[in-house]
Amino acid sequence: EQFSGHLPTRLKGLDDALRGGIPFGVLTEVVGPAGIGKTQFCLKISLLASLPTCYGGLDGRVVYIDVESKFCSRRLIEIGATSFPEIFNTKGMAQEMAGRILVLRPASLCEFTESLEQIKVSILQNQVKLLVIDSMASLVSGEYYKEAPRQHLLGWHISFIKSLAEFSRIPVLVTNQVRSQSHDEACQYYFQVHSNAVTPDEAKKYDSHLVAALGIHWAHSVTTRIVLEAKSGQRYMKVAKSPISPPLAFPFIITSSGISF
Ligand code: GTP
Repeated sequence: EQFSGHLPTRLKGLDDALRGGIPFGVLTEVVGPAGIGKTQFCLKISLLASLPTCYGGLDGRVVYIDVESKFCSRRLIEIGATSFPEIFNTKGMAQEMAGRILVLRPASLCEFTESLEQIKVSILQNQVKLLVIDSMASLVSGEYYKEAPRQHLLGWHISFIKSLAEFSRIPVLVTNQVRSQSHDEACQYYFQVHSNAVTPDEAKKYDSHLVAALGIHWAHSVTTRIVLEAKSGQRYMKVAKSPISPPLAFPFIITSSGISF
């Protein structure tokens, strides 16, 4: 790897597998069905990036692009207060930590484009240590989708985000939802497409939304892919793509302190 450095997730097995955590300078994707915990994962990682270095954080600001209005600062503070009571119970610190996370809610693809261009300008000046995009695929669905044909619509954005990660050498965390009547089936096809095992056309009938929107260009732009899924009532986190880790899976839970193993 060209870039060194990681943001520890404090999820022991995951940090071991990724040799330290979420890598700097490249894209890490968290993918899974609705409600599995992708946003909860992003909240926890954002908090960790904002923590002082003496607590293992990056002591920086976070730019959080909240496409679906899922960011919840009250929940962020709850996770912080439960995980790091010594910091969050100090007067003013909860607000200080939450204030380090700049939440952007682009209302259109055009605004998203503008946000990215502004981030590029301000990322180094403002001590930004993490960029989160929750979620990428929703930028080409619903209201956003009306703006333009969606086939490979995000090609420019994907290249821009990748170069942003490389240039700023910060971790970039992006979520994507797999939408389908059968999540298991959709996940399976999504990864087959991304390993070129089936053609995009074949996969469209399973998950037209995600595959048509992001396609192979996206798949190749992501360095590390973490899949969240549920089986028989238990949530699992899988390292599905990584230049260093074999495909490992860890059971996880979501509690008042956020995602935990
Ligand atoms: P989509 O955005 O719909 O794709 O879902 P997601 O994968 O981002 O799911 P999200 O991270 O929003 O996780 C939702 C799940 O997290 C819920 O089903 C709850 O189990 C759990 N959760 C959310 N908020 C809380 C909370 O305040 N306390 C606890 N203990 N769990 C929570």
